[in-house]
Amino acid sequence: MVLELDWHSLQKEAQSCRKCRLCETRRTVVFGEGDPAARLMFIGEGPGKTEDETGRPFVGRAGELLTRIIENGMGLSRSQVYIANIVKCRPTVEQKGFRDRPPDPEETAACSPYLLRQIELIRPEVIVTLGNPSTRFLLNTSLGITKLRGQWADFRGTPVMPTYHPSYVLRNGGEKSPLRRDVWEDIQKVMQKLGLPLPS
Ligand code: URA
Repeated sequence: MVLELDWHSLQKEAQSCRKCRLCETRRTVVFGEGDPAARLMFIGEGPGKTEDETGRPFVGRAGELLTRIIENGMGLSRSQVYIANIVKCRPTVEQKGFRDRPPDPEETAACSPYLLRQIELIRPEVIVTLGNPSTRFLLNTSLGITKLRGQWADFRGTPVMPTYHPSYVLRNGGEKSPLRRDVWEDIQKVMQKLGLPLPS
């Protein structure tokens, strides 16, 4: 059972997973990366094209924005946090490999035990959920991110800060998006909670 595996076995199991149809079209399994003892964990929805090609989470355009938030905004490095997704293989529309889409309920149900075990093993002090799918999944709600962002929530005793997904920010104005200010406010709350100094 995934639920009891140690880090190494969990990763091995995920790498050969065939629990849902996403395995048929994936190039790589994007398990997650960062410090397995991180104080802070980011959770997105699923790998995109670049992630599928490289096996690394958040390395495409959205990933560049997330990296800037972590490095320039928080003064941390990616290796100091842990970055994962709800599903470890790339979901695309009709699995044709062109347009990314959020994971569907079956894919989420099949894959989420990996994420839940990652959270158990990492035991982060704070989780940041990026966008609707991970926020709804962890908080077991159907409310949208616009309602939930910026307010502390709880996942089995761990504080959760929902914020917008970097792709959503990029789609809504990018560098000039007003949503960036919201994300920055949410991230500042996270830094306060972790006792991290705000960069001047
Ligand atoms: N979007 C996600 O949610 N996760 C990734 O890893 C990349 C893009």
